[in-house]
Amino acid sequence: MSPLTVFGIAGTAREGSYNRKLLAVAMRKVAERGHAPNLWDVREKRIPMFEHDLEEERGAFPEIVKALRADIKAADAVVLASPEYNAGVTPTLKSIIDWASRTDPETKEPQVWAGKVVLVIGASPGLFGASRVQIALRQTLAHVAAIQLPESLTLSKAHESFDDNGELTAEWAAKGLDKALDAMLAMAQLRKA
Ligand SMILES: Cc1cc2nc3c(=O)[nH]c(=O)nc-3n(C[C@H](O)[C@H](O)[C@H](O)COP(=O)(O)O)c2cc1C
Repeated sequence: MSPLTVFGIAGTAREGSYNRKLLAVAMRKVAERGHAPNLWDVREKRIPMFEHDLEEERGAFPEIVKALRADIKAADAVVLASPEYNAGVTPTLKSIIDWASRTDPETKEPQVWAGKVVLVIGASPGLFGASRVQIALRQTLAHVAAIQLPESLTLSKAHESFDDNGELTAEWAAKGLDKALDAMLAMAQLRKA
């Protein structure tokens, strides 16, 4: 298997975020498998809320959005890790998806999701584990023609699920994440072949 580039980004910038922890675990697992993780920390790289006027008035995307799109485009697969807010998509994640779904007003480059292998995982302190937002996300990702895996990991009781080193403590969760990542990598490898 040739090494794959895997872009990872979380749908929350909260300090101490369980989803950012889960994403970090996922990206470490990607590296352990000999692939190249490209982890974006949304606390450092603040992505503006999507506003139509921002692209229309300026005639160009903000620089951070250009960088986001370039890294998604360059990746063989994308991992999105996000909580659900009121059983729906967080504004952070929706903006990430929406910015990357537009045609670049300067270069006319089309949206960058089409044909991209995308894995969605999520964590929540509650019992639902961000599982209810999966349907909404799958609808949106289908609309932008991303290639989705049936696998996922929805981590419930996230506040009890990490040790002091940020590793997953529950065996079922670690195994579920392994399975989802392996499916994603296999699909991405097929796409690259
Ligand atoms: C506006 C808002 C709405 C929320 N709605 C839900 C929800 O529908 N389901 C759920 O499991 N948790 C919900 N939560 C709790 C989040 O799952 C919790 O804050 C979680 O820690 C957020 O993820 P993070 O730790 O990665 O930032 C909500 C939190 C906020 C701030």
